[in-house]
Amino acid sequence: MNITTIILAAGKGTRMRSELPKILHKIANRPLLQHVYDMSRQLANNTIKIVYGHGAELVMDTLKNLEAGWIEQKQQLGTGHAVQQVAGQIADTDTVLILYGDVPLLKLATVKQLIANVNDESLALLTVHLENPTGYGRIVRDSAGQVTKIVEEKDASAIEKLIKEGNTGIMAAQGDKLKRWLNRLNNNNAQGEFYLTDVIEMAVSDGVAIVTNQPETIDEVLGVNNRIQLSHLERVYQQEQACQLMEQGVTLIDPARFDLRGSIEKLGIDIVCDINVILEGNNSIGNNVKIGANTHIKNSIIGDNVEILANCVIENSVIGQGSRIGPFARLRPETVLAEVVHIGNFVEIKKSSVATGSKINHLSYIGDTTVGAQVNIGAGTITCNYDGVNKFRTIIEDGAFIGSDTQLVAPVTIGKNATIGAGSTITKDSPENQLTLSRVKQVSITDWQRPVKQD
Ligand code: UD1
Ligand code: CA
Repeated sequence: MNITTIILAAGKGTRMRSELPKILHKIANRPLLQHVYDMSRQLANNTIKIVYGHGAELVMDTLKNLEAGWIEQKQQLGTGHAVQQVAGQIADTDTVLILYGDVPLLKLATVKQLIANVNDESLALLTVHLENPTGYGRIVRDSAGQVTKIVEEKDASAIEKLIKEGNTGIMAAQGDKLKRWLNRLNNNNAQGEFYLTDVIEMAVSDGVAIVTNQPETIDEVLGVNNRIQLSHLERVYQQEQACQLMEQGVTLIDPARFDLRGSIEKLGIDIVCDINVILEGNNSIGNNVKIGANTHIKNSIIGDNVEILANCVIENSVIGQGSRIGPFARLRPETVLAEVVHIGNFVEIKKSSVATGSKINHLSYIGDTTVGAQVNIGAGTITCNYDGVNKFRTIIEDGAFIGSDTQLVAPVTIGKNATIGAGSTITKDSPENQLTLSRVKQVSITDWQRPVKQD
């Protein structure tokens, strides 16, 4: 059986009050449409068609990598009209699944159930029971409980408005039948639109039964129409992810204050995340890692037994096992730390490698540098890697000791076991095993008098 999934995504989303088309707004840093796409990608033998329209250029630019057929709906004349744009590309024997690009949390299991309900004699419809169904199309059933039609809120009678079973808009039907019904749609209704929902009544009159199923939770079928709903679904999604992580052996001190905006490639056990941790992009985190409060980690690999103290920002970095980072450390892209490295407060590292056991504990900038093993870099050390035009590398060999408040003017090499005296500005290579320092000789003025204030 082949499936054609049609994702309706042409609408404007006026209530977002945004320059950005609604489906490009994000949940967990992923566009709404991408959520729907990623879920439907998991269906076997599935071809995805996306009906787009509003903000066409921006949508295409942002999501052109999706493996889908893109069909432009130039004017948004209704959900039925949107599906009509794809009709020419639907094979008779396909099962056609219709999804909305602004309903991001729909579950694969729900969709699979829907598809399983489609056959020669039935159309599958996802409905939802709502306390307050305002705005939703209502599911009208006969005395035997069979669905007879969907009536839109604006076309509904006072009695129909009392119906609490709403149309999610999500349905599945056989290709040949759906195409036949699409051909017969008209826009004689309160909104002058071509309603996809009108196919229900047509199906019934063709002797096709409407089989309904419901999602496990209402959140699954909620659409995003404004930023309040967007934030609600963000929290729902984050809560789900947090639960999955906890089930896999991660302690989240407060799952409501944890955000995963991406994926975790390798996840160890006994990871502890304090509050306000953000994991973004694709990270790997080893066993027994502790991540302190207010820490943002992006596209990084964290080894076993690493401790990251509060308020660190880590991006595109590798942290070897047993290392300790922070508090208040910033690891910028291409930082590679070997095992048992200590990076302390107010230290920034960029495009540098630091070998085993080295320590950079306070107030330093290390950029474009190769740091050997067992190196100790004193407080306030700065690699001067940039002359305003070009960047140069600093090499600090194994066992070197860099005194506090030192500037290493690159390109420069500090030899093995070299010691640099505090307060030095090093502009030439410093030989191994020796003390190098550049410091004005200290003098004391014996007969100096401190000025005295006259009043
Ligand atoms: C639709 C359903 C309604 C259901 C509700 C659930 C119809 C006629 N009504 O109503 O029964 O309860 O969804 O939210 O189907 N879209 C297009 N092109 C268009 C119009 C819409 O691509 O011309 C897309 C929108 O971008 C959106 C989806 O279709 O993703 C639904 O459109 P929307 O305008 O929100 O439908 P409703 O009128 O709310
Ligand atoms: Ca809607």
